[in-house]
Amino acid sequence: MWKPAEKIKYVPEPGKWPSKAEAINSLWFKPIEIGPIELKARTWVPAMVPWRSTEEGFVTDKVLAWYERFAQGQPGCIVVEATGIREIPSGPLLRIGHDRFISGLKELADTVHRASQGQTKLFIQLIDFLSIRRRPEPKKYFERFLAITDSHRGAIGGEDWTEQKVRDYLGALPDAKLDTILSNRELEDLRMGARERVTDIKFSHIKELPKVLPDLFADAAERAQKAGLDGVELHYAHAYTMASFLSRKNNRTDGYGGDLKNRARLPLEVFSKVRERLGKNYPIGCRFLSDECIEGGSDVDDAAYFGVELAKAGMDFLSLSRGGKFDDAKLPGVGQAAYPYTGQSGYECMPSYISDKFGPFGRNIAPTALIRKAIKGAGFDTPIVLAGGIHGFEVAEKILQSGEADIVASARQALADPDWFLKVKLGKGEEVRLCTYSNYCEGLDQKHKVVTCKLWDRINMEEANIQKSDDGKRRLIAPAWKI
Ligand SMILES: Cc1cc2nc3c(=O)[nH]c(=O)nc-3n(C[C@H](O)[C@H](O)[C@H](O)COP(=O)(O)O)c2cc1C
Repeated sequence: MWKPAEKIKYVPEPGKWPSKAEAINSLWFKPIEIGPIELKARTWVPAMVPWRSTEEGFVTDKVLAWYERFAQGQPGCIVVEATGIREIPSGPLLRIGHDRFISGLKELADTVHRASQGQTKLFIQLIDFLSIRRRPEPKKYFERFLAITDSHRGAIGGEDWTEQKVRDYLGALPDAKLDTILSNRELEDLRMGARERVTDIKFSHIKELPKVLPDLFADAAERAQKAGLDGVELHYAHAYTMASFLSRKNNRTDGYGGDLKNRARLPLEVFSKVRERLGKNYPIGCRFLSDECIEGGSDVDDAAYFGVELAKAGMDFLSLSRGGKFDDAKLPGVGQAAYPYTGQSGYECMPSYISDKFGPFGRNIAPTALIRKAIKGAGFDTPIVLAGGIHGFEVAEKILQSGEADIVASARQALADPDWFLKVKLGKGEEVRLCTYSNYCEGLDQKHKVVTCKLWDRINMEEANIQKSDDGKRRLIAPAWKI
């Protein structure tokens, strides 16, 4: 995992906890409208993938237990983890690409509504992603994967060589020499593993994404509605298909890339299809990036433009995350796949306690506030959801009071203590177990003794496909979120 050069260590600073009366009178615990429905509070658990479904993508008892546990803390909304909209095997990632998934999701919605005593709405995040291969053995790459071209032959003076001879020759070259012969994309395929991009329009399935995605999203959203989920969040963030359309790196030449308007086109078309299918009485929003946090990527000005367009189109809420891209991911080991939360942009997505002078807490506040201001300035009141390092009442309430966002979410703090929203509301903030933001499964009691995170404890992580890292600690982030 990338770390800032300064390596300053931070401990959580929750600030003063409110009394019960203060909490009840606060904005954070006041209702808010999300399109046609009302959340009972402006507290929110954003999508988190815990890899607890079956290999076929069905809801399991562990999935039910996971969300039930969050629901007992009665946040205003929980967003179900990124859930795949296609009929493709996706490992233990929840899926919604066929009607056979509806009954499990219905049980999930019922479980959350029951466990929260009707206090929590359940949304679901709908995701599409392109394929990524594991980093190949160099030998295999040169023998099988690399397509030999005239450019390779020219570079090595092997114009009249057989293909096999070119392969053998290239396979024996040192890295520095390969750097001068292979294209950047070929080098990436060799050292990171081949990864499809939305810009690979020479492949028909990529070219046709604008044709197929609106219906795929709309079909999935309709299933969510049938399953009794309270709303859908279209996943337009991080390293996945829709975020790649929004990206400044998207230079498609078919009207779906290039300038801001064309990059926003497919996300707007997807939304319009979903809305057409579900009607006005169902909340539809999206999660997108306040900043891609990569060289040459979209920045906060781009995000402000997208925010205004998405609000204008009639989205019921907009949730802001940051970073989480493949572009700056760490080189994976041979046989492993690149993971988009290992580089600097990954750090921005889930900053850990070892940080720079800005610290790990609230790095998404300023950009989110700018985006919200642009949206308000354009005349829209679309609620804006903010996440990133929030673990105290004071900061959450200040964000809401000062108009930096309308809903304040917390992911890892809710993992450390799924009851924390309820404890704060009941004036029992002193009992909150705090997240260490180490990105390992740890929390702190308020005397700063390290304890194991509650949620992971309760649902028995070892059984749940969670690996141990080299230092023997239980690793939360990487295996839990690798799509
Ligand atoms: C285990 C884990 C899984 C995550 N999975 C998702 C996901 O499926 N979709 C998503 O948009 N964000 C995902 N995130 C990012 C969180 O929603 C959140 O934006 C991020 O952790 C920063 O918030 P925090 O500082 O409150 O943890 C995940 C985070 C964690 C820790």
